[in-house]
Amino acid sequence: MKSIYVDYAATTPLDPRVLQAMMPYLTTKYGNAESLNTYGMGAKCALEESRTILSKFMNAENQEIIFTGSATEANNMVLKCHALQQGMNKVHIAISTIEHPCIHNPATWLKKNGANITFIPVDSQGLLDLEYLEKVLKAGVTLVSVIHGNNEIGTIQDIEEIGRLCHEHNTYFHTDAAQTFGKIPIDVKKMNIDIMTMNAHKTYGPKGVGALYLNNEVKMEPYLHGGEQEFGLRAGTHNVPGIVGFAKTVDLREKEMHEEAKKLTKLRDRLIKGALEIEETYLNGHSTKRLANNVNVRFLYIEGESLVLNLDMEGIAASSGSACSSRTEEASRILLALGLDTIDVRGPLRISLGKTNTEEDIDYILEVLPRAVKQLRRMSPLAPTKFRQEN
Ligand SMILES: Cc1ncc(COP(=O)(O)O)c(C=O)c1O
Repeated sequence: MKSIYVDYAATTPLDPRVLQAMMPYLTTKYGNAESLNTYGMGAKCALEESRTILSKFMNAENQEIIFTGSATEANNMVLKCHALQQGMNKVHIAISTIEHPCIHNPATWLKKNGANITFIPVDSQGLLDLEYLEKVLKAGVTLVSVIHGNNEIGTIQDIEEIGRLCHEHNTYFHTDAAQTFGKIPIDVKKMNIDIMTMNAHKTYGPKGVGALYLNNEVKMEPYLHGGEQEFGLRAGTHNVPGIVGFAKTVDLREKEMHEEAKKLTKLRDRLIKGALEIEETYLNGHSTKRLANNVNVRFLYIEGESLVLNLDMEGIAASSGSACSSRTEEASRILLALGLDTIDVRGPLRISLGKTNTEEDIDYILEVLPRAVKQLRRMSPLAPTKFRQEN
């Protein structure tokens, strides 16, 4: 049976060149980067070289890069440490209604604990309502956090403009770039970003390593207390192999991301066009301002989860939304935020492409998909009679 992986937004395979770069730090060069002996100094050197690679890639200073254990950790750190810095009854954080659960849930938790949290709406294609943002900024918000490229619907925000508006009102601007870092060029200075979240495993790097860009001007309370690692902001022995792998990933992305984006955009557009030929099927997210690898479509009258399982049986590994919420009701929160009806948010299918995918994979998906949708509609009590009687 065929085996086609199209769940690259959830995670990606490790690039063998990245593994090769990591291997010495997993085997012979195992020193603690804080130790003063030869082993420790070797690890420290690798750590600082990695920091330089990341900082150059986004036009930041070395001391503005804080390594973390994941993008989830970095996002939690931003919101919770900002609230600690400001004080729970003084802080006012604004986030968009389409944030990843690792921003949405800490924000909701802070709200429960007395923080002032505002949710900024998006339009039907997922673009932030900039007029609403301006109103919120005028009300005296202390931090704005908006996802760069949405992990479910793929919409890419105009980050530069959002950052400009925040700066006009002397407000810090954070963006979760877990889905765009290493896929789209990001210059933090030019794009008016004060704080940015990244990770390695969405771009062929190792899992369990992330980073935060934190502009020198931004004051933040430490997240994990303990040793003095990461400028005293994030204690804990460094994951040197992971960090070296992250840097190698970034190095490769710098050379390869443009070509890959061109190839994936072509495959993506062909797949969207083919999927939309199926009756009563609609695109979720923006038609052009979207991640090069993201296809998200909804098929009326069927459940996305059932479709994912059907496709899996045919050797196609896709998903129905965020991997972090695929086992909960949460999967529809993003589509509801676009203003869709509850009936419309049942059937999203997310196909996220990556470097192994080919034209032949798209041919195969477009052969299987109409058949799978037809089969599920035939069994769906929600489908009009004509779908239930189709052979
Ligand atoms: C937009 C976004 N933010 C954050 C995360 C969390 O990343 P990590 O797996 O590194 O915690 C993800 C991954 O699903 C994501 O897509």
